[in-house]
Amino acid sequence: MRGTLTDSYGRTLDYLRLSVTDRCNFRCYYCMPEEGIDFVQRKDLLSYEELDYLCTLFLSLGVKKIRITGGEPFVRKGIMDFLTQLSRHPELKEITLTSNGSISNSQIKQLATLGIRKINISLDSLDRQRFYQITRRDRFEEVFACILKLVEEGFLVKLNCVVDGNKNTEDILPFVKLTETQPISVRFLEEMPFNGTGSFVPPTWNHIALFDYIKGHFPDLVKVPDEKNSTSVNYRVPGYAGSFGIIPAFSRTFCGTCNRIRLSATGELRTCLYGPPVANLRDVLRSGMTEALLVEEIVQAVARKAKDGFEAEAQSKKIPKKSMSFLGG
Ligand code: GTP
Ligand code: 5AD
Ligand code: SF4
Repeated sequence: MRGTLTDSYGRTLDYLRLSVTDRCNFRCYYCMPEEGIDFVQRKDLLSYEELDYLCTLFLSLGVKKIRITGGEPFVRKGIMDFLTQLSRHPELKEITLTSNGSISNSQIKQLATLGIRKINISLDSLDRQRFYQITRRDRFEEVFACILKLVEEGFLVKLNCVVDGNKNTEDILPFVKLTETQPISVRFLEEMPFNGTGSFVPPTWNHIALFDYIKGHFPDLVKVPDEKNSTSVNYRVPGYAGSFGIIPAFSRTFCGTCNRIRLSATGELRTCLYGPPVANLRDVLRSGMTEALLVEEIVQAVARKAKDGFEAEAQSKKIPKKSMSFLGG
């Protein structure tokens, strides 16, 4: 091992979020407009070989957990082979996935054989009509069936629900209620300014409003311990099989313990979701630079990680017209 990735605030960065595609089969309003975004050309995407090689370097720099994101990871051809290859790195303690629920039953079985245990699924409504309004796709039943299948196969499932005061607040209590019988964790998220349009209204249902509302209906809820470096603050209703959490993604109260770095499908390295790219590893890799220099580039770029999302945003100058589908969540 070459050491660990640390920043100037003493944080160890050992969690890599790897986006394998900017494409998606859904069109969630908070992520991209109905017509989609200018999707990346194939030649500009990191190949699976390049992705695996870069993962090898990150693992040699102390990364322990890799989360595969997109876009929707399961729309990229060859994803199962890539995951198989990735699962062979002995230093990699954990591979996790974030998906919109477009995973077939046979893929679910295969993921289990690769030792993948934790999968996060985006689901913003339990109502078919509202699901359609949010995702612009009429696929609630399929996604819900996928979630039930994952639970049945023993995966630790978290649901991500972006709360919008005008769209899905009626779903908040049913989502909490779902955890009565299902051993899953539902996380309510504040919306972030990455809908691909450049315009954005800050969320009125912020983490405080969300907590007060749920506490008002479930007064005896209890705090449960949060995982190390967790983005969510988690609770349980006594007697329920699952739990729920709140992610202050816009309020950014968790930056102090952030251990995340991000690599886009085009090789952009980001040390904060809100900030500009700090390097393009695809270009560096394709320029034929030696491995030692490539590693040095990563170490130096990561060391400059901003203190928090506000500082990163200021460095970014303005709210970018970026889509979460490109950024990787
Ligand atoms: P766990 O590893 O299970 O804790 O998952 P996660 O919460 O890191 O990942 P997931 O892909 O499920 O993301 C949940 C939400 O948290 C998404 O909206 C992410 O964009 C958001 N999120 C994750 N990391 C950060 C971060 O560093 N900053 C901000 N502001 N939001 C983040
Ligand atoms: N704000 C907050 N969360 C978002 N996600 C996608 N776009 C946004 C946004 N603009 C969430 C999705 C997915 C996770 C990776 O990011 O729900 O589960
Ligand atoms: Fe697709 Fe996820 Fe974006 Fe929705 S949030 S459009 S599921 S990438």
